[in-house]
Amino acid sequence: MAIKIKSEDELKTMREAGRIVGQTLEKIRAMVRPGLNILAVEQLVHDEFKRVGAKETFLHYSPAPKYPPYPSNICISINEQLVHGIPRDRKLKEGDVVSFDLGATYKGYVGDAAITVGVGEISPEAQHLIKVTEASLCSGIKAARTGYWLNDIRGAIEDTIRPHGFGIIKGYGGHGVGRDMHEEPHVENFRQRSKGPRLQHGLVLALEPMVSLGNPDVEELSDHWTVRTKDGSLCCHFEHTIAIRDGREAEILTLP
Ligand code: MF3
Ligand code: CO
Repeated sequence: MAIKIKSEDELKTMREAGRIVGQTLEKIRAMVRPGLNILAVEQLVHDEFKRVGAKETFLHYSPAPKYPPYPSNICISINEQLVHGIPRDRKLKEGDVVSFDLGATYKGYVGDAAITVGVGEISPEAQHLIKVTEASLCSGIKAARTGYWLNDIRGAIEDTIRPHGFGIIKGYGGHGVGRDMHEEPHVENFRQRSKGPRLQHGLVLALEPMVSLGNPDVEELSDHWTVRTKDGSLCCHFEHTIAIRDGREAEILTLP
């Protein structure tokens, strides 16, 4: 599979797809409070996407035949859960740290983004983890410039996280995105031996740093989807879909 460079027309559509994701995530952020049943979030995505004419990218998604299709509209991962948590009948509690990862398909193109939100008052460690993870996404975006290399993005994310001693998760990362949710290249959240590929105008990437307070080793639950830290430590995930543009900073497509 090769890297797909997007035309200006494609970028225009991806902007619309991205905005749907960003706006829906902001609505979700506003509803987070102790006592919220997370099935209400699943419902909100359904209602919003219906209203704007978008399709839930994650619903029925299967990365390989051995995986059961993903059963929900959104991934909701709580505390020690890192990513791909399946919404179920569960109420949020004060102090929970929750990530919401959402994909919309609009006019055939995908927007993909994630936020992590604290419920009520959260611990200082949790606040710090969230701040640093979001900052690492910003660093990655700043390094996403024409003529730079993919390793500049990976390195910028890594260098923002490492000084704080947090764990950087291996085996999961960002990706190219377009007509398909997952396109080339895969984007690890730390430096690789090879510096490439080179970044060029029209490349669209989903950057998604995943960080843990403790040991970064993760495991999949028996539902085949939910990924959690083995040591039960708190983790955090932010994601934006961005477009690399000549002569300027990358454009964030998934802002509200
Ligand atoms: N943002 C995630 C990713 O890029 C979302 C995938 S969830 C799935 O892999 F359910 F669709 F797999
Ligand atoms: Co993604």
